[in-house]
This record gives sequence, structure tokens and C-alpha cells, in this order.
Amino acid sequence: MEWGMANRMAQLIQQDGHCLFLPVDHGYFQGPTRNLEEPRKTCEPLMPYADALFITRGVLRSSIDPDNTRPIILRVSGGTSVIGKDLANEGLTTSMEEAIRLNASAVGISIFVGSDYEKESLLNLSKLVDEGEKYGIPVMAVTAVGKELEKRDARYLALASRIAAELGSRLVKTYWCEEFDKVVRGCPVPVVMAGGPRVETELGVFEFVHDGMQKGAIGVNLGRNIWQNEFPVAMIKAIRAIIHQNATPQEAQEIYEEEKKK
Ligand code: 5RP
Repeated sequence: MEWGMANRMAQLIQQDGHCLFLPVDHGYFQGPTRNLEEPRKTCEPLMPYADALFITRGVLRSSIDPDNTRPIILRVSGGTSVIGKDLANEGLTTSMEEAIRLNASAVGISIFVGSDYEKESLLNLSKLVDEGEKYGIPVMAVTAVGKELEKRDARYLALASRIAAELGSRLVKTYWCEEFDKVVRGCPVPVVMAGGPRVETELGVFEFVHDGMQKGAIGVNLGRNIWQNEFPVAMIKAIRAIIHQNATPQEAQEIYEEEKKK
């Protein structure tokens, strides 16, 4: 791996081999998502505990101070909305030059395997990888399911993750699922877990994050289950303990309960 690529990967993946990415990119297709209406307010208290932010250029420029930030994974796909015809019909929204100008440590793109736009999204990924490799910028592929949340099983996610790796992604972000080890085993590049819609209890989140880590994920890219929680800082600290201190779900719950009181 060339120096620039290796250095950017090291900014994202910490010395223990693990990472906690904080996604705040939801507005690019959902608009002002609950608790992310004012991204600056959401991000500021959480940033000290995140290893990187997953964010669009517009929110980065408007809401994150360049002298007080974390490594940036720039969301560079989009062009669709929740009220449009098909979420899967995404294109590339941001050039590699812009990513470099914004000093991004990586770029992120969704792929929609099995959708009507499978081919387009996979060719967009390939094009992005070609550009990223030219400049030493890693690409993180997001195995998106749009509104079809029921697609999140090991068979589908292993297929989508493997395709993302084959096309050159340096990182794959996919959902946790039962038999998650099958997803990780079939994916020759590091896998981070997405969160999805809010899980009913905090313990439920700690359990799936812990299980995924035991089964080979290197970390998370977890948004709503952190910043839509009533105590987002307590939540991110508890999840951080699972990722970086090998805490059990019960220990994470204790951390959450303690931090809530502060
Ligand atoms: C949207 C994304 C988000 O970054 C992803 O969904 C992670 O956030 P959450 O944990 O809220 O699901 O890629 O397509």
C-alpha cells in the first residue's frame, strides 16, 4: 500500500485495529432527520469520541469547524430522496478533487445490489475506486438496502459485501445480521457495521455491536442509535468501550447508566 493510502487508512482504523465512525450524512436523502436537524449541535458533543465522521461536503463546510474536527469520510453518492421514485438510483455527487480539497481521509458510496440500479451503482463504485487509487484515497462501500430493510440477512449481505470488495473498496460498511461471521469471512477487506433504524433498547444495540465485533467486524458506523438516543454522549462512550476496550454488553450498559447521570 502506498504511503498516502496507508496513512489515510491509519487515520481511520486505530492502532488496536478497530474504529468507531459517526455517520451524520442522513440528510442527503432524508432531509432534516430527527436529532440531526442542526448538525453542528448534534456533532459537537460527540466528536471527541468518534474516530471519524461520515458526512457530505455541504454539512462539513457549514457545520464542522476545520480547526476542530476528526478525520472525514466524505459521502460522495446521492441524487435521490425518500420521496423520489427509487432510492437506488444514485450517482456520484462529489469529485475526487473536491474530496482532496476538503482533506478527506476516505470517500463513501452506496451500492444497491439486487436493485434496478445494481449495475449503475456498481460501476459508480468502480469509477470511484479508480479515482481514489490514483490519489491514495480509500473508498468505503455501503451495502445499502433502501427501504427494503428485510434484505438484511447473511446471504444477501455476504453477496453485496464481497462484490464491494472485489470492485476495490478498501472498507465495506454493511449491516449486522444473524450469522454475521459468514459476511465477514467472505469479505477480504475490513468490515464495519451500520446501525440502521433505532433498536428498542440500549442493551439491544450493545449486544449486536459486541456480537459483530466477536465475529470479525473492525468497528461500527453507527448514527441514529447514538444521536437519536436521549443520552447520545453516554451512548457513544458505551459503544466506544465495546469497540476499543473489549467491554461486554453488560459493561457497556453500566457505562451508559453512569454517564447518563453526568
Ligand atoms: C445512509 C448511511 C448512513 O451513514 C448509515 O445508515 C448509518 O447510519 P445509521 O446507523 O443511522 O443507520 O449510509 O445510507
